[in-house]
Amino acid sequence: MMPTMRPVVIAANWKMNTTPSDAAELARTIAGRTRVAGVTRVICPPFVCLASVRDALVADDPQVAVGAQDVHHELAGAYTGDTSAPMLDGLATWVIIGHSERRRDHGETDERIGRKLGRAVDGGLRPILCVGEQLADRDAGRAFEVVERQLGGALDGHDAARVAAARLVIAYEPVWAIGTGRNALGSDAAAMAEAIRATLGRLGWERAGEVPILYGGSVTAANIGEFLAEPSIDGALVGGASLKPDEMAGIVGRAGITAAARLSAIS
Ligand code: 13P
Repeated sequence: MMPTMRPVVIAANWKMNTTPSDAAELARTIAGRTRVAGVTRVICPPFVCLASVRDALVADDPQVAVGAQDVHHELAGAYTGDTSAPMLDGLATWVIIGHSERRRDHGETDERIGRKLGRAVDGGLRPILCVGEQLADRDAGRAFEVVERQLGGALDGHDAARVAAARLVIAYEPVWAIGTGRNALGSDAAAMAEAIRATLGRLGWERAGEVPILYGGSVTAANIGEFLAEPSIDGALVGGASLKPDEMAGIVGRAGITAAARLSAIS
């Protein structure tokens, strides 16, 4: 593979953890322990912690971006408990879309996820679109087919150039690897990343090779190296380990080695 200038991205998905009173301190600690050249860092706290995390990072380390964990597919209306893209203005610059926990717990379909993607793009948010198969799909040899269908469902009907201009990031998160301590093999994740870029090409993306693809699923400081050793993988979407400063320091530190290697390969 040709050397790539795709960025190396480490995104923390805090899921339903932290409170407004402790999130700022955790964000500051993680920011302070992950100042590594060349790595794009993103922290995605719960909605109610966005403001405190934003304030903490603006003061401490504005290079760390803040992301939301979801966005609604409508702009406003009778949607109790939901959060729209305009509400995130000034609070977040990134957003996770289509996480498997939302597909599972909130019945999110590919079509709905596609609409959320559109709202994110319109709202100036940088989307992290999550895809990934269930264990039964992998065991049945259907992993590629499932991920291709998820991508098609979410991206269909969107102008590829417009979504590309929003700097879409894709996270491949096999469902069976999330929160289980059982991570995919680096080589399997890399094969899926190649398949994802091939699918983007079929969907009309002219520069699919420029889309960053992250791996997610039980990533830790101990196993991140296996994924970043794969040239087609550009970082990680980290769940449980992202709440632990020691783990994040190790993960981002390893990501910095990949970022430096990519830079020297093209210079
Ligand atoms: P874990 O890292 O806890 O497995 O979670 C992964 C994930 O779902 C990130 O979005």
